[in-house]
Amino acid sequence: MWPVTRREGLGTDPEYLRQRQYRDPTNLNARIALHAKYSRADEPWYPWLASRIEWPEGGDVLDVGCGTGALWVAIAPLLPHLRLTLTDLSDGMVEAAADAVAALDGVDLVGALPCDVQELPFPDESFDVVVANHMLYHVPDPARAAAGLARVLRPGGVLMAATNGPRHLDAVADLSRQVLGWSPLDLVDRRFGSTSGASILGTAFGSVEWQLHPATMLCTDPGDVVAFIASTAAGQEASPEQHRALRDAVEARFRDAGGAVPVTIESGCFVARQVG
Ligand SMILES: C[S@@+](CC[C@H](N)C(=O)[O-])C[C@H]1O[C@@H](n2cnc3c(N)ncnc32)[C@H](O)[C@@H]1O
Repeated sequence: MWPVTRREGLGTDPEYLRQRQYRDPTNLNARIALHAKYSRADEPWYPWLASRIEWPEGGDVLDVGCGTGALWVAIAPLLPHLRLTLTDLSDGMVEAAADAVAALDGVDLVGALPCDVQELPFPDESFDVVVANHMLYHVPDPARAAAGLARVLRPGGVLMAATNGPRHLDAVADLSRQVLGWSPLDLVDRRFGSTSGASILGTAFGSVEWQLHPATMLCTDPGDVVAFIASTAAGQEASPEQHRALRDAVEARFRDAGGAVPVTIESGCFVARQVG
C-alpha cells in the first residue's frame, strides 16, 4: 500500500463523493465536456463501448455508478431492447440518470436507486450484463465490489468496467500537479486502472480482458482545461490564489505550445466473465 494523505483519500470517501463531488451532475459534466469537445477517434467512445460486448434482446442490465446516464442516451439506438436498472452512490446522479433514461425508446427503466456498489441489494444471478464505467477507482474496496458484481450476474453474463491508464490526460494532470501540488488523475491507476484492474477483477472473474480505445486529443482553449481541473477534488480544495495561478499556468502552457496542447487519452474497458 502507498501512504494516503487526507486529500488523496477524498476520491474514495463516500461522504465527499455523495455530498460534494457527485452531489449533482455539474462536476462530471465539466469533465465530459472536455472529452466531447476534443476527443478524436475513428469510433467515438460510447459506440465503441457498446460494441465491446453482446447485448441479449430483452436482457436485464445493471449500471453501477451510472452518473448522468449519458452512456444510455448515446447507445440506446444501437442496442436491442433492454431492461435497465440504474444505481449510484449519489441520489442526485440517480435522479439525473433516471430522467435521462425515462425518455429513451428501447430501454425499460425497471429500477433506479442509490446504493454503494460494495453492497448491492439484488439477489444472486439477477442480470445478464453489468456496467461499471469509470467508477471502481472511487470504491474503497474494489475487490469486494467485484465479488458483488460477479454474484449478481447470471451464468454466461458479462461485466464491462471502463477505466483509465496511468498516462490518461497527462498534460492536464501535469498542470494540476505543478500549481495545486497534486492531481486526482494520478491516483486512478493505483486504485483501479488499466494496469491494476485485471488482478482486482481476477479475484472474482475467470476471464478478464483489457481493451484500449484508440483516441487522441488536441486542446485549443485554456479555459476548458481550467474548467476540468476546477471540477476535480484538487480544484475544489484550491484557494482563490491557487485558482488564479492555475489560470496563468494553463494560459502560459498554451502560449508555449503555439495555441494547441496535445493531451494523451488512455481510456478503455475490461470485459470480465465467469468461466467453467
Ligand atoms: C466518474 S463518474 C462515472 C459516471 C458514469 N459511469 C460514466 O461513465 O459517465 C463516477 C460515478 O460513480 C459513483 N460512485 C462513486 N463511488 C461509488 C460507490 N461506492 N458505489 C456506487 N457508485 C459510486 C459517483 O457518484 C459517480 O456518479
